[in-house]
Amino acid sequence: MRRALLFAAAVAAAPLLSSAPVTAQEARSTADFTAPAQTFGRVSFDARSLMIDGKRLVIWSSEMHPFRLPSPELWRDILQKMKASGFNTVAFYFDWGYHSPKQGVYDFTGIRDLDRLLRMSAEEGLYVIVRPGPYANAELTRGGFPGWLVNQRAPSRTDSPEYLAAADEWLTQVNAIIARHQINGDGRGNQGSVILYQIENELAATTPAHRRYMDHLYAKARADGINVPIFHNDQGRNGYWTPEDSPVDKVVPGPVDLYAFDGYPGGTCTVQGRTTRGAAAPDWGFYGPGGAKGGASASPATPGFMAEIGGGWFDYWGSNGGYECNAVQRGERFQRVFYGVNLANGISLQSIYVGFGGTSWGWLAAPVVFTSYDYGAAISETRELRPKAEEMKQLAGLIASVPDLAGMVPAGVPAISSPNIQVYHNRSPETDARFLLVTHKPSNGQTNDQFTVTADLPDGRYVMPMTLNGFDAKWLVAGVDLAGQRLVYSTSELQAVLPASRHDVLLMYGRAGEPGETVLRFAAQPDITVLEGDVRSTFDAASGDLKLDYEHVGLSRVRISGGGRPDLLLLIGEEKEAARFWRQGDVLVRGPALLRHAGTERGRLLLTGDTRESTPLELWSAAPASSVRWNGAVVATRATASGSLEALTPLAGPAAFALPVLSDWRVAPESPEARLEFDDHDWQTIDNRAYASNTLRPDGQPNMLMDAYGFHEGDVWYRGRFEGGPEAETINLFYGAGGAGMAQVFLDGVFVGQHELPSGIPRPITTGVAAFDLPEAARTPGPHVVSVMVRNNGHNWNLDANDFHKEARGLVSVSVAPRVGPGFAVPISWKIQGRAGGEDFADTLRGVPNNGGLFGERHGWHLPEFKDGDWRPGMVGEPLQPGVTWYRTRFDLDVPAGQDASIGLAFGDTDTPRSDRAYRVLIFVNGWHMGQFIANVGPQRVFSLPEHILNHRGRNSIALVVSTDGAPGNVLEDVRLVTLRNVRGGVDVTTRAQAQ
Ligand code: GAL
Repeated sequence: MRRALLFAAAVAAAPLLSSAPVTAQEARSTADFTAPAQTFGRVSFDARSLMIDGKRLVIWSSEMHPFRLPSPELWRDILQKMKASGFNTVAFYFDWGYHSPKQGVYDFTGIRDLDRLLRMSAEEGLYVIVRPGPYANAELTRGGFPGWLVNQRAPSRTDSPEYLAAADEWLTQVNAIIARHQINGDGRGNQGSVILYQIENELAATTPAHRRYMDHLYAKARADGINVPIFHNDQGRNGYWTPEDSPVDKVVPGPVDLYAFDGYPGGTCTVQGRTTRGAAAPDWGFYGPGGAKGGASASPATPGFMAEIGGGWFDYWGSNGGYECNAVQRGERFQRVFYGVNLANGISLQSIYVGFGGTSWGWLAAPVVFTSYDYGAAISETRELRPKAEEMKQLAGLIASVPDLAGMVPAGVPAISSPNIQVYHNRSPETDARFLLVTHKPSNGQTNDQFTVTADLPDGRYVMPMTLNGFDAKWLVAGVDLAGQRLVYSTSELQAVLPASRHDVLLMYGRAGEPGETVLRFAAQPDITVLEGDVRSTFDAASGDLKLDYEHVGLSRVRISGGGRPDLLLLIGEEKEAARFWRQGDVLVRGPALLRHAGTERGRLLLTGDTRESTPLELWSAAPASSVRWNGAVVATRATASGSLEALTPLAGPAAFALPVLSDWRVAPESPEARLEFDDHDWQTIDNRAYASNTLRPDGQPNMLMDAYGFHEGDVWYRGRFEGGPEAETINLFYGAGGAGMAQVFLDGVFVGQHELPSGIPRPITTGVAAFDLPEAARTPGPHVVSVMVRNNGHNWNLDANDFHKEARGLVSVSVAPRVGPGFAVPISWKIQGRAGGEDFADTLRGVPNNGGLFGERHGWHLPEFKDGDWRPGMVGEPLQPGVTWYRTRFDLDVPAGQDASIGLAFGDTDTPRSDRAYRVLIFVNGWHMGQFIANVGPQRVFSLPEHILNHRGRNSIALVVSTDGAPGNVLEDVRLVTLRNVRGGVDVTTRAQAQ
């Protein structure tokens, strides 16, 4: 009843970009700043912000997926990089299917150890937002539902009892872990840093059955001891599942404490890998369609909360490779403009989706995506901080430096001398601190403008001369106390405030070459010493204003003393120069590629981090340091005129190292299932078991779907016996195989043909029909066997709550029949085989995503310990039989100690997204299935292999499972190891340094 038609349109377009904002009529004209705070133990909130222990803070969060990095040791690396980039919170999806191979069976060990993940997050000083589903989406196969749920006929994501019972299994397990790590504790002495809990994800179906489902999830979480606020993530700001008492019309109330939504604004990368700059940054809060100063939230009594704001985008089978494009598209200046406009609109909780994407290894991926889930994110799949992470760090620096930013409200429109410019002017009701976001009007404007902004600020009326060149936004801070100083205003941006041992330090920055001015207030004229750079100053005795004029060039340093305030060192950098600074705890460090930790122990300052090359080190610390260590080694320093310590010699960079050439391949043909005489006595017989799929099939056919037989991932084989005869002229298949899936057909061991599903962007084509002529032999009387291998490249997600994840996988129906005429279909009796053990597989180390049902996989050919001594020596590039061929070799790595590298595997010409050779490779490294390369589909040709999967200091094994139709030229291209990143540092070093 409450749902308008326009909502339906928004849902159909999902998950792309943003949906229609709530209109003026739908929104209350002002946010409800008087709404009383709601308290959940140590976490509370009102209309303006979240509070922890009663203290307001901006929740500045970055998302990662533990299941997309199967090296738990490296989770810490990502968490440290997020923390170092200034995030105070990390968000996690948990993938139900990753933990549950079989109904009733759950595994939280090893790579699935969520206890460890949540402990690490707290150790690294990050708050946590958990998103355990049960439905996640996240470009996961089945959107995170377990394989066995595909066989459940009851509609998922509703209150059907069978589905609720299944979901409760998972929630009971995962909630027990989460509960122990809540910031409020679990009442049994356990405590961690989880502050928020999400139920469901983008549930845009809002019938009573869905409402009852949501009620159930809320009640279940509470019954399981979840005591932090609960929210849902709306697919765009539709107003689905807002708190019950929302006064806004046409929203869908639900069992949530907080309303949250997601959005992916800012344009897209095209299939050609080019960017289209999208619309301006949406006003999803104060400045939205409710009018200036008006609130436009779907939930005015709760703070603006984006549970996902696009930090990149995923990429599709068959694209031209969009990750670098996404890194740029949602890259330089994007976060300043889009995240800035969000903040200005009162969205005081923002979580970047994703901060680190990682790898959809094994069979984790939904049909839309290939192996790499790099996402163009701030932290690349190879764990490199991309340039845009610097921009995020600078924004985060502002957020951390001025806590008043949390809970700001609109403050009135200043006078602007240019029609090309708009200024969002906010204030803190408590301190009157001002925050002005200066951007183009509209914010995607590209012009170069010089103008003035005139505003009544706490310390008076000021005319601020400004420059805004191209797509950009700047946050100005005014009328605020910073350490012992009073900042009247600055046209430079604020990155860090440090009350250091000898004086306060302020770090400001601006775009290279642009002018800036900073005004500070004093009781009397202070002494100014320009230590470095060209900075001019004037003092106005009447107001006490000290005005500094300069250009942002390199790093200027100004010492200011006297004037009735503590001494101050003002650092004014051009943007890139300021980005070389890291703030951890009470230490400000300049130089290295990463500062992971700064701690003090008996007066010694212990720093850990990474260097990409030989790097000078300079630091300021709040407490005086008797000595300095970097990654455990003593660093000789000297004091500088800037009150800092400077290393006498630069920190060493990483040493180069060589990678071995992959050679000495051992080769074995596979696909024995194709042969007539193959022994399939232990295969399951295809029968008429219950059919739960929503894919229609011809009447009277048995249930051939792989899932019905307990095979949910990867490859599955069928063997059909029939009596030869004149009718056996053609074979027709209807099958489901996910994005870029395929089927191979054999008759009595002879290859008949291969069919590949075309990749569709953005909607992959996931089922298909194939028809082949059968060889003459099929018409010979006697027993014949048709063997079919289907490669399942993932089950669909269930984004629209329509059970799309139950679409057929494997064969749906097959007929062997005459080429023309009425004829009749030849009776066939079928058997099926898939992953060894089905849902009861043995390899619990690697778990659900690792294996399908290839003969070699079933017999451990992918495992490092497998003895391939009797395989024949072979060469990359030699002709291949139709079907599957295995290549195996071993190699040693010797990455220098104390270095963190990312090593990958590259195929053929990495400058092109695909080649004219048609073949596919499953990549097994030390038994781990780290990706699928499809040469003729692309675009991924380089596969990142995380350390710990790869042994960086010792022996490794690799197995390449190549499938092809055997046509000339469809052969394995050049395969080689490549170094994708190399730094001195890394988490192991950190652990050692901390342990000393
Ligand atoms: C969102 C969804 C996420 C993910 C994202 C695109 O709409 O909530 O799970 O699918 O889109 O990467």
